[in-house]
Amino acid sequence: MILEWTSALRVGVEQIDEQHQELFRRAERLVLALEAGHRADVDPLLRYLTDYVVSHFEFEERWMAEAEYPGLEAHRDAHRRFMDDLRERTREYRRQGPTRQVAASARGWLTAWFEHHIAGADVKLGHWLASRERHPPH
Ligand SMILES: [Fe+2]
Ligand SMILES: [Fe+2]
Repeated sequence: MILEWTSALRVGVEQIDEQHQELFRRAERLVLALEAGHRADVDPLLRYLTDYVVSHFEFEERWMAEAEYPGLEAHRDAHRRFMDDLRERTREYRRQGPTRQVAASARGWLTAWFEHHIAGADVKLGHWLASRERHPPH
């Protein structure tokens, strides 16, 4: 698994915690395909991960907006930077193919980003929402 689930990654909101675990599963499948050098598998898995990231970020951002979360702008910027990096890495993959270096770099980047962002910004958001007894939008 890209990341082992630990209490440090728990945001405390069921939907968000479930979405994060789904992100890890999708990221792991993509990285395994890159590591195996299976080009035919990489494209659909890349799309599979990207789509989920987009909908997950939208979910968090919609919720932050509805709750008038004061950290919304900074959090949204972090999501944007991730999407920019993901697009750049996708381009790099298209140039190089599923090399060992691309696979190792993808694994390191995804692991570090998820860990940093979830244990940081997302947990902070979860605490703020919990302190205001906010519930997810539908
Ligand atoms: Fe986030
Ligand atoms: Fe998140």
